[in-house]
Amino acid sequence: MPSEECFVYITLPGQTEPVTAGRYQLDTTRQGAAVGQFVYGRSYLERKDRVEFDPVELKIQVPPFRTTKLRGNFGALRDSSPDAWGRKLIETRLGNPSPSEIQYLLNSPDDRAGALSFGLNVQPPAPVRTFNKTLDLARLIEVADQIVAAEKDPAAAPAGADAEQAEALMRAGTSMGGARPKATVEDEGALWLAKFPHRDDRWNNPRVEHAMLTLARGCGISCAESQMTTIGDKDVVLIKRFDRNKAEKGYHRSRMVSALTLLDADDTPDTVDKRRRWSYLLLADEIRRAASGTQSKDLPELFRRVCFNALISNTDDHPRNHAILAKDQAWSLSPAYDLTPNPMIALERRDLAMAFGNWGRYANRLNLLSQSERFLLSKEEATAIVDGMKATIGESWYRVCRQVGVSERDCELIRSAFVYEGFGYDLADPTIATDDAEELPTTRPR
Ligand SMILES: Nc1ncnc2c1ncn2[C@@H]1O[C@H](COP(=O)(O)OP(=O)(O)OP(=O)(O)O)[C@@H](O)[C@H]1O
Ligand SMILES: [Mg+2]
Repeated sequence: MPSEECFVYITLPGQTEPVTAGRYQLDTTRQGAAVGQFVYGRSYLERKDRVEFDPVELKIQVPPFRTTKLRGNFGALRDSSPDAWGRKLIETRLGNPSPSEIQYLLNSPDDRAGALSFGLNVQPPAPVRTFNKTLDLARLIEVADQIVAAEKDPAAAPAGADAEQAEALMRAGTSMGGARPKATVEDEGALWLAKFPHRDDRWNNPRVEHAMLTLARGCGISCAESQMTTIGDKDVVLIKRFDRNKAEKGYHRSRMVSALTLLDADDTPDTVDKRRRWSYLLLADEIRRAASGTQSKDLPELFRRVCFNALISNTDDHPRNHAILAKDQAWSLSPAYDLTPNPMIALERRDLAMAFGNWGRYANRLNLLSQSERFLLSKEEATAIVDGMKATIGESWYRVCRQVGVSERDCELIRSAFVYEGFGYDLADPTIATDDAEELPTTRPR
């Protein structure tokens, strides 16, 4: 059975240098199934300042952990790996369309989300001290454009064998997740996630993303800090990294785990059982367990985000677009990020990616109110949030967009995303079809 392994390092709270924490091994059975094993190292377990990688799966325990999910990867490790975009760059650079999970980990840059890093030696390498600067954005966008062009026309692909291009791809690479073209840059003593335009965008996505974060902030939601920069004729949104804090000798790193890991859910919810795990209600229960110190703040905050997503038709609110963070010991909900409006023709019903009430994923006021207690909110408190936010978004989305420079044309293109008609439907009305309401998920025992 072919086997690969690597060491996993962690930058502990308050530190800027990583220490060795454990070993990850990936085996492939004769039938082609991937089996991952992880074990915390003895010296790591003996440290007083050791911390768990995540609060659900790789908790501090001695026996080796084993998984066959996610191509043999553990959620916390997968959350530290590049996603569609970063993987594409690695595949191009290596000239290999399907590297193993360990190859992705070992070939990706160390700008990864959270506090983990990976390598082949027992001792961790020195932390990376040099990052791309905003000044390098023109070159990074150029490489990103080449990669996007190569998707349409493979003949345009930068050849992995060309050393200069491989170096450029390496510099443009990122371990940050997501599918959109992006890179990490350093500026003003902080790290930023720079999100680029894509040639298939129907509107100016970076600017609209900045507008949505601004609008969400106006609705009382705690969001990642963002700002715009323009490189030539291209707008780029810079999202401040909330998992890194500049320290005297480098960066402090917070641990970060996606809701996908917290929910023990699958990336593609293509069966009824998998789909049931894509649930804000289960997420609320998990946050309650993992972030007991901040649950009274985090759960109403999560409710506000669901409400916001419903009101801007952000139907791309999948479980990788939510996360929890641990700066020190305790876990808490991360600031909001990746908020995108999705204008649709349907006026009666729109569905978020995850269920949140008696009518499943239906982006609707009564559905939002139906399970407010799971978010630690009384009906009255929830009603005030929903109705207040509906009014704020209805009267301010256009002004906020225009203020941050979204064009009139783009505002028209996205207009139908905001406060759509079905949001206010009375679901008790028998003339409204709601028969595909999903069964309410309840928390599994642990
Ligand atoms: N401000 C931030 N600080 C730290 N990590 C972040 C921040 N914003 C996003 N991330 C991480 O980076 C990943 C990618 O970011 P984002 O979701 O914005 O990209 P995307 O390409 O638009 O994603 P998608 O594929 O969902 O459209 C997120 O899943 C999250 O793990
Ligand atoms: Mg995303």
